[in-house]
Amino acid sequence: MLARGRSVPAMPTDRRSFLKTTSLAASTLAFPAVVKSASPNSKLQVVSVGANGMAFSDIKNIGSHAKVQYVGFCDIDSTRFDKADAEHPGVAHFTDFREMFAKLGDKIDAVNVGTPDHMHAKVAIEAIRKGKHVYCQKPLAHTVWEARQMRLEAAKAKVVTQMGNQIHSNLEYRLGTRLIKEGAIGKVKEVYSWVGVTGNERNKRLAPAPAGKVPSHVNWDLWIGVAPMRDYAPCYHPFVWRDWQDFGGGALGDFGCHILDPVFTALGLNAPTHITAENSGVNDQIWPTNQTIEYVFPGNSLTAGKTLKVTWMDGGLRPDRKIAKMPDNLDLPKSGSVFIGEEGNMVLAHVAGPRLYPVEKFTGFKYPKEQGLSHWHRWVDACLGGEPTTDGFDYAGPLAETVQLGNVATRLAIGEIDQRTGRPLDLKTLEWDTNAFAFKNNPAADKLLTKTYREGWAI
Ligand SMILES: NC(=O)c1ccc[n+]([C@@H]2O[C@H](COP(=O)([O-])OP(=O)(O)OC[C@H]3O[C@@H](n4cnc5c(N)ncnc54)[C@H](O)[C@@H]3O)[C@@H](O)[C@H]2O)c1
Repeated sequence: MLARGRSVPAMPTDRRSFLKTTSLAASTLAFPAVVKSASPNSKLQVVSVGANGMAFSDIKNIGSHAKVQYVGFCDIDSTRFDKADAEHPGVAHFTDFREMFAKLGDKIDAVNVGTPDHMHAKVAIEAIRKGKHVYCQKPLAHTVWEARQMRLEAAKAKVVTQMGNQIHSNLEYRLGTRLIKEGAIGKVKEVYSWVGVTGNERNKRLAPAPAGKVPSHVNWDLWIGVAPMRDYAPCYHPFVWRDWQDFGGGALGDFGCHILDPVFTALGLNAPTHITAENSGVNDQIWPTNQTIEYVFPGNSLTAGKTLKVTWMDGGLRPDRKIAKMPDNLDLPKSGSVFIGEEGNMVLAHVAGPRLYPVEKFTGFKYPKEQGLSHWHRWVDACLGGEPTTDGFDYAGPLAETVQLGNVATRLAIGEIDQRTGRPLDLKTLEWDTNAFAFKNNPAADKLLTKTYREGWAI
């Protein structure tokens, strides 16, 4: 039964617009049976690149949407399909994502990218160029250039995207960002964000590990993918690749897109103009044990000054608890942010509800009602023609660029320590021109905006 005065949507010719039209028809006509009975194809057909680790968590959460059907699971390690198979039996297995894309072709509507960081851009951009919607794990990309390309490619292809920093949709971050936007602490003067982990938790090596025997269940060539080839060793796959500059992004790469996300959302940030880093020492293999990175952003109507300083710390470094003006019996969380406002401060732990200080100033403060949402279902709904995502690559791209700009500064901050001040002698501030995609004061640093791709694996 159709509502009076509404025309029946014309039958679209391709699968993507078909899904969108049937879903829109369902929502505007408030007649879900249209979708259910239209065709089995009214489900969003999804593949996952990566079948275990965080990719499995995403498979489970995306797959809990009633309109999702998996058509392919890809993993370079044949022992890593069990959990995905138990959750969604009978889905075809692949080892090489390129083969999966070629074989399944138009059967694929959308792609979940849950590989180690160094492969995100390669997989996501290939999917986007084929017109697929993409859910891609944080930190979106491995370099500044890749984050920029992912944003541009997604905009060009007009696909639906979402970065996998799922806490973006949680109640805690939604409430915290809302409080800042609504002026609970007045205009913001400064922000500190930090994470408790180090950038080299698992490997303290100065050079790649000696060659080990590649397990028969691992396709090492495909795991290396875009990166320069090196011998297999157990200190890379699974999970421990994070510490290595060729594959991960250290503590900032791992947590920056989580913890700086509410800072970006609350304050409408885009690109920093200045980045300064100092750290405990870094070589060209692994990330430092701890680091402090100062970003300066242009100010706006939510900031107290013409510029806003956002300081990132990791590896056990935290700001002085006194800046939050919290009661003496409380301490700052192990990971999170403190927003210093003209009329109070907000501590937003990773992950817990926002707290406003000093306590006496906020006694009786009425927190607005907010709700947590499923980050994964928001993406699926958007793919089916619903509300746009709030963490698409148009937003996540600049956030990921900022994170990776910090890592560029970190890799430059190698040097002798001034014994008097304890700071590196060659501490330099990088001046970033986002429109020109170049540093204004250090052309040599531009080469760290990207990386060398293995032959046959260029993007
Ligand atoms: N959002 C979060 O809270 C969260 C948490 C953990 C990890 N992550 C992110 O998820 C991604 C994966 O991290 P992880 O800890 O699960 O790593 P992992 O190494 O434990 O798991 C990666 C999985 O992908 C597979 N894989 C590796 N290369 C592949 C390729 N080229 N093609 C297909 N499969 C491949 C591996 O075999 C493994 O099953 C990273 O980008 C990480 O930053 C996000």
